[in-house]
Amino acid sequence: MEKNIIVGLDVGTTKVCTIVGVTSPNSELEIIGIGTHPSHGLKKGSVVNIDKTVRSIQNSIEEAKLMAGVNFSTATIGVAGSHVYSFNSSGVVAIKNGEITQEDVDRVLEAAKAVVIPSDREILHVIPQEFKVDNTVGIKNPVGMCGVRLEVHVHMVTGSISLIQNLVKCVEETGIQAEHITLQPIASSRSVLSAEEREMGVILVDIGGGTTDVAIWKEGSLLHSQIIPVGGNHFTNDLAVALKIAHAEAERIKINHGSVLAESLNQNSHITVQGISGTKPREVKLSYVADVLGARAEELFSLLKETIHDKNLQNEITGGIVLTGGGALIKGLPELGEYIIERPTKVGYPAPFGGMTNIMQNPKYSTVLGLLLESASRKKQTNINKSFNSSREADLIGRLGESLRSVFKEIF
Ligand SMILES: Nc1ncnc2c1ncn2[C@@H]1O[C@H](COP(=O)(O)OP(=O)(O)OP(=O)(O)O)[C@@H](O)[C@H]1O
Ligand SMILES: [Mg+2]
Repeated sequence: MEKNIIVGLDVGTTKVCTIVGVTSPNSELEIIGIGTHPSHGLKKGSVVNIDKTVRSIQNSIEEAKLMAGVNFSTATIGVAGSHVYSFNSSGVVAIKNGEITQEDVDRVLEAAKAVVIPSDREILHVIPQEFKVDNTVGIKNPVGMCGVRLEVHVHMVTGSISLIQNLVKCVEETGIQAEHITLQPIASSRSVLSAEEREMGVILVDIGGGTTDVAIWKEGSLLHSQIIPVGGNHFTNDLAVALKIAHAEAERIKINHGSVLAESLNQNSHITVQGISGTKPREVKLSYVADVLGARAEELFSLLKETIHDKNLQNEITGGIVLTGGGALIKGLPELGEYIIERPTKVGYPAPFGGMTNIMQNPKYSTVLGLLLESASRKKQTNINKSFNSSREADLIGRLGESLRSVFKEIF
């Protein structure tokens, strides 16, 4: 039986992670390999050093290949970074023959894309939220319906094309073709959120190292996405500055002793920190560490709260807030989020599937697992529709277009 090898590749600010999975026509997706390597060439989600990035990607891919015992040459990759900007738009067309065809749907999506965007930006995704046929609203798939007027509301994601090309270039330099490119919070949503949550209205908040990626869902559609240039590294930097310690020591303290709720700690607890070289170890109050981390968390949650107000989504988020990404693991974050945003808040772990080990059951793997799932569902579609020809020459926009089509198919 023919087996398909699929690969998700997440080039993050702190780590590059490759996951290899296998699918066959009658069986579920199963993970057979994983490779993780520290990342040094990115800042706030964008590539700043090509050589270092290529090396990290190479190492992570080699590790994954070794573990999986198979070779591969394509991967689904994620994009984020503070250059990504998204907004909602709409389009309307007249229906040609009284009954809506796929062609009409394509035309109305084209019409929704016809908005002015700055010349250095390109459209990454155009994700339909709902269609309206004449006066009937809330239609997910209008093909086959009768009417005279077809309208669509879409969520558009744009990004700096040169920054995306840099990422693709790094991946391709390792001999891997970046066959699909997906917005990272969409990938994380796929692995972490249930269909029910997306239906009820939920905010996915992926707190990575360099950025926090947000995706807001309601009635199964993506209402809003946003990349906030604040991530786990900012928490670590704040600690390093406040305690006058090295970055690595600050990271150790954040992970082992960090909390964002000073009130919940014993006011007399202390920890020993290693000062910068040449200075003696010192005692620091744990509640002080929590004050520093708490201030940054408050900033992050306040930004989220502002977004909810700006976008008028106060009444949409009945499913609450789901925090994921490695940065979500700081103690007390869900409690503080719930207090500030006044919505139920929890840490979201990737949903388990075949071959997933305990190690992968960690919020920092939400994105890469989502990319793998994305790749798997795409493979299924390609198998159904063999006419799809993933020509090596297909330009970046073409590939992004393909990616948006699959999101479209997945949502409806
Ligand atoms: N147990 C933990 N407690 C607190 N923070 C943690 C823990 N484990 C990881 N982190 C933090 O998570 C962050 C990395 O998260 P993640 O691996 O999701 O980021 P990334 O994908 O590399 O970055 P980005 O998505 O921003 O490009 C780091 O700042 C790290 O300090
Ligand atoms: Mg990430």
